Amino acid sequence: MSSYPFESALVTGASSGIGEVMVGLLAEAGVPTVLVARRADRLQALADDLDGIEVLVADLVTPEGQAAVVDRITDPDAPIDLVVNNAGFGSNGRFHEIDPDRLADEVELNVAALTRLSSAALGVMVPRGRGYLLNVSSVASFQPAPELAVYAATKAYVTSLSESLHEELRGSGVHVTALCPGLTRTEFQSVSNTEQYADRFPGFTWTSPDEVARAGLDAVAAGRAISVPGVLYKGLVSMADLVPRGVKRRLSGLVQRH
Ligand SMILES: NC(=O)c1ccc[n+]([C@@H]2O[C@H](COP(=O)([O-])OP(=O)(O)OC[C@H]3O[C@@H](n4cnc5c(N)ncnc54)[C@H](OP(=O)(O)O)[C@@H]3O)[C@@H](O)[C@H]2O)c1
Repeated sequence: MSSYPFESALVTGASSGIGEVMVGLLAEAGVPTVLVARRADRLQALADDLDGIEVLVADLVTPEGQAAVVDRITDPDAPIDLVVNNAGFGSNGRFHEIDPDRLADEVELNVAALTRLSSAALGVMVPRGRGYLLNVSSVASFQPAPELAVYAATKAYVTSLSESLHEELRGSGVHVTALCPGLTRTEFQSVSNTEQYADRFPGFTWTSPDEVARAGLDAVAAGRAISVPGVLYKGLVSMADLVPRGVKRRLSGLVQRH
């Protein structure tokens, strides 16, 4: 018997980090899950180890990759009732010095692909009167982040979109949640050029991918609008509402610069 209300799931960014841990939790709970990412070998290794896994290799910055995942989400013969938009990355550095093609891919993945997959998911879930959409955002969505500017802007979009949809669908039987983790040890640091964070931020500021993945799945199952895993980040996000915008912006710049 599953401890979750989901009958089937699709997780993007399932080949490492938070997504990979979610896949393990869903498999443990007996929820059949479709795994989406670019690295086929990683996904296949998970499929070999776990029960109920379907592999869908797709690059979500391409129209073909997005279309393949949309087709799977909307397949009437194999319905999915939990969609987790988890794939995402950041680009650390000064905005004008970062390769603009990389920034375009970041927006395409974090914003455009997430929007397209959310639309596909809700398009089938709302008529069914049942479903769960979990969008992985970040604590970076609550204030600007100099030197991680595009990333914070994409995540502000994800939190705002998810909160709007949460209210829009109140009473519909479909739950939409934004998961907003703080620092979490995954491949994110090497992909996003933030490896220096390991030295810059002390141990207590790091959350485990396990804590984050559990918090997200529990929150969407419970129908919460926002989940901020960890006592430290819950406190910081609550306090952020009380700090004037200009002060928050300056502090964020100081934290990024050292
Ligand atoms: N780690 C943190 O500190 C932190 C904090 C707050 C929020 N988050 C968010 O948490 C989410 C998961 O990140 P993570 O920390 O688990 O990082 P991660 O270990 O780097 O995982 C990212 C996942 O996204 C997939 N992905 C990247 N580009 C893709 C593409 N073009 N098409 C399809 N899949 C793609 C990767 O798989 P392939 O490379 O195999 O495609 C990988 O499975 C992200 O949205 C991130 O922004 C992370």
